[in-house]
Amino acid sequence: MSPRFALPLLALGLFTQCKPSKMADSWTVQSPGQVVTAHVFLDSAGQAAYHILRGDKTVIDTSLLGFSLLDQAPIAGGLEVKKAENRSFTENWETVWGQSKMVANNFNELMLELEEKEAPNRRFRLVFRLYDDGLGFRYEFPEQEALNELVILEENTEFRLAGDHLCWWQPGDWDIYEHVYNTTRFSEIDAISKRDHPNLAQTYIPNNAVNTPVTMKTDDGLFLSFHEAALYDYAAMTLQVDKENLQWKSVLVGGPDTFKVKVKLPFQTPWRTIQIAEQAGDLLESNLILNLNEPSKIKETDWIKPMKYVGIWWEMHLGMSSWDMAGKNHGATTQNAKRYIDFASANNIQGLLVEGWNTGWEYWWGAARDTCFDFVTPYADFDIEEVVRYGKEKGVAFIAHHETASSVTQYDKQLDTAFQYLEKLGVHAVKTGYVGTIIPKGHYHQGQFMVNHFQRVAETAAKHKVMVDSHESIKDTGIRRTWPNYMARETMRGQEFEAWSIDMNPPEHLVMLPFTMGLAGPVDYTPGIFNLKFDAYKDKNQVNTTLAKQLATYVTLYGPLQMAADLPEHYKDHPAFQFIRDVAVDWDESHVLNGEVGDYLTIARKERGAERWFLGSITDENPRDLNIALDFLPEGKTWEATLYIDGPDAHWDKNPTSYVIENKQVKKGDTLALKLAPGGGAAVYFRPLE
Ligand code: NOJ
Ligand code: CA
Repeated sequence: MSPRFALPLLALGLFTQCKPSKMADSWTVQSPGQVVTAHVFLDSAGQAAYHILRGDKTVIDTSLLGFSLLDQAPIAGGLEVKKAENRSFTENWETVWGQSKMVANNFNELMLELEEKEAPNRRFRLVFRLYDDGLGFRYEFPEQEALNELVILEENTEFRLAGDHLCWWQPGDWDIYEHVYNTTRFSEIDAISKRDHPNLAQTYIPNNAVNTPVTMKTDDGLFLSFHEAALYDYAAMTLQVDKENLQWKSVLVGGPDTFKVKVKLPFQTPWRTIQIAEQAGDLLESNLILNLNEPSKIKETDWIKPMKYVGIWWEMHLGMSSWDMAGKNHGATTQNAKRYIDFASANNIQGLLVEGWNTGWEYWWGAARDTCFDFVTPYADFDIEEVVRYGKEKGVAFIAHHETASSVTQYDKQLDTAFQYLEKLGVHAVKTGYVGTIIPKGHYHQGQFMVNHFQRVAETAAKHKVMVDSHESIKDTGIRRTWPNYMARETMRGQEFEAWSIDMNPPEHLVMLPFTMGLAGPVDYTPGIFNLKFDAYKDKNQVNTTLAKQLATYVTLYGPLQMAADLPEHYKDHPAFQFIRDVAVDWDESHVLNGEVGDYLTIARKERGAERWFLGSITDENPRDLNIALDFLPEGKTWEATLYIDGPDAHWDKNPTSYVIENKQVKKGDTLALKLAPGGGAAVYFRPLE
């Protein structure tokens, strides 16, 4: 029970208005299946507060809501409730692409209209949407006389926890999400100790806070994940650790000004979201964050296509070739691009990313990075028109690259021209990049200014029919429902770190990502490395997984743009490459079969519009025997299963390339016994026998 207030834990009907002891009025809303309950009320000082339960368990204890504003009294106490409204909503909507074709969106909503009892009588609404798998709430500010705009010093949303939960967290970095995840109790979080990683070109961790999504497990076995949905024209939220009160407190990402956010009214904040589940895997199946976003604003979506791609990319990360033309080995030549196109075309890969195709790379680490990049001028040895034409002839789409070196001023100036250029070339995909500190100075990658910039890029791209995959960008908050051309975001520590970082991704990394940043949306991890030690290029670095785990990652870590990241010569004549040829990237259904955060995970997915199933299973540094019930397969058919599994002596460090391919006939109801090596995995392709 709450230490702050006693709330009635009787079975509460939908939308009952109750008057518990020690409280003034309280409004209650329950999820459609009566799983999750929110009480919203004013405390004795007239400040808005809320309390969340799942069944009879407190998930969020009484927590306060409000804002600190510039040159104004904070929005805090002295409020009264003017109006309370409820509504129920139910729909089944179809995704343009995604982990499932259909998404059920069923919620009950409570809206409270609040007003200050005394002048200036500022008004706002609190909206709580309750789902069986969690909730979202937001603040809405209607137009009003006393308030034209909101200049927010801080959002003061509290999330008071019911215990010192186990947390999977990364530091609250205002610039970058490329951190390894940590596992500690809430009271042991120490984000400050994660400052100044030498391989991060931009990093700023001002508080003992975490980035969202942050995932937690309570001692009584509930899984919680905190994030936000529909982040527009606002700063990203980090969650500060308040150990004394055992609560998260929102801290918005700032910029060069004293305030964090400035907006004209009417305005609504992003949703503050809490996913709640009994199994860790249920967090991955939840569509809460997508559902809290608006339907697609793009009417014709036939040009938006998930795909596999190769890239003139890993060769630069290994140091074999260069992005710039000044070096002896420029990667992005017409000839090299054609070589990759031939390879992609022969191997069921639909895209080719080319980095280093445009001028400016000689200066991108230096003082001239503010103006160096030109997004419409290819290097002299790269005939872009010919490469795009050749790709079209061979059925391989060109994926352009816009590295901005974080000179947003420069990129914004060229944005329209750059996207007109792509449209004219008939190019429908771009990868963007923001390495370095933001120009103009003082801004951070996750502040309001950049949130607006990333949105401007997504919308400009949509206008010119271009899909976006952004690196070093703001995290996803489900806006891919509204802007389905925004396919993927790196927003985590990708496989590229293995090529050059002083510390490589630990074996548990890939088992951590789906339960943390993966909950925000699709990532661009760039799996598929077969030459895992690459001693010929970088003897101190390596990829810390087995080969079979690289394959399994195509299924376990969702992304609609999946790279086959290794060099064509490392795939050539390699029997295991058949899985990458076969694997799908767009799905009708996805089922999490088992999983624990940072330990192991098994997912089965059905390809969109085809009778083909894929399964991926991965583990951390511990070996595992997993018995997988093949209940997901449709009844009445026998399926040919091709298994790519760790060899008996496989080990992520000692013997990563040991693998075995097996074929089996299976049917619904059978059990598949999988043996995963330390740091290993298994990938399975199922197709029906005639
Ligand atoms: C960092 C990106 O994550 C990586 O994929 C890219 O190759 C480099 N920046 C260069 O733009
Ligand atoms: Ca990166």
